Amino acid sequence: VQPEPSSSSLPRKPLVLIFIGMAGSGKSTLVDAIRLSLKANGKRVYTINLDPAVTYLSYRPNIDIRDTVNYKTVMSQYTLGPNGAILTSLNFFATKFDQVLQILEKKTNMDYILIDTPGQIEMFTWSASGQILTDALASSFPTVINYIIDTPRSQNPATFMSNMLYACSVMYKSKLPLQLLFNKVDIIPSQFIHDWMNDSDKLQSVLDQDDSYMSTLTHSMSLVLEEFYSTLKHASVSALSREGFEQLETLFEEGRKEYDEVF
Ligand code: GTP
Repeated sequence: VQPEPSSSSLPRKPLVLIFIGMAGSGKSTLVDAIRLSLKANGKRVYTINLDPAVTYLSYRPNIDIRDTVNYKTVMSQYTLGPNGAILTSLNFFATKFDQVLQILEKKTNMDYILIDTPGQIEMFTWSASGQILTDALASSFPTVINYIIDTPRSQNPATFMSNMLYACSVMYKSKLPLQLLFNKVDIIPSQFIHDWMNDSDKLQSVLDQDDSYMSTLTHSMSLVLEEFYSTLKHASVSALSREGFEQLETLFEEGRKEYDEVF
């Protein structure tokens, strides 16, 4: 009787990296830059675009939601506004996602599958279809969320804290490993963010302390974030200058390990 193949002898599945972030944080630019960087390192990379409303992408995705649903037609056919049309397009795509999974299952020679998501973050993170797509991917492949932070826009401490709370809620809701990418560090170094993450008193001291309710709330939120930061993996990068890219593969593989430990 032949022994069962050990898990280590099974072909390694590609790692799915879902790129999520506030509008304009640099998701599409990063997906393209990371795609090129991984390819230059000899890795095989597959790309999927899930933004039905994007008009320009600097790369040609292997699978593109725009080839399946026409967002403008959805808008006029169902008399919807832009956000309703994005949601409805994602719903249509979710009904066909089993076909996408079948294609992906055959891509056994791929190392990474990069997923670009809609500009409006909540279209993906708070929609039923976004959840269905994420769950479907995560049940078939090791999946890690890359939450993109716009570093220059984070200089306002309240904006920074709101964004971090959002990142925390994405992790809480998806239950997937989440990593932060502080993007656009060619404009401003991310040292101030590391300072705030390492010492919540520093962040609190720059937030408005006049109002006692806000002060108490800020303190409570800092405690939540301290716990969130304690295990959080992150990297500071620039999609334009490719600064920080040398640490990305290690970061992604740590995410894969974290996924393997949980699932
Ligand atoms: P939406 O999907 O429309 O929300 O945008 P996105 O998150 O995909 O961002 P996108 O890649 O379109 O980038 C938004 C803007 O930021 C563009 O003008 C990019 O050129 C710029 N950008 C992205 N990454 C960087 C970076 O690392 N440095 C600088 N300086 N600009 C960047």
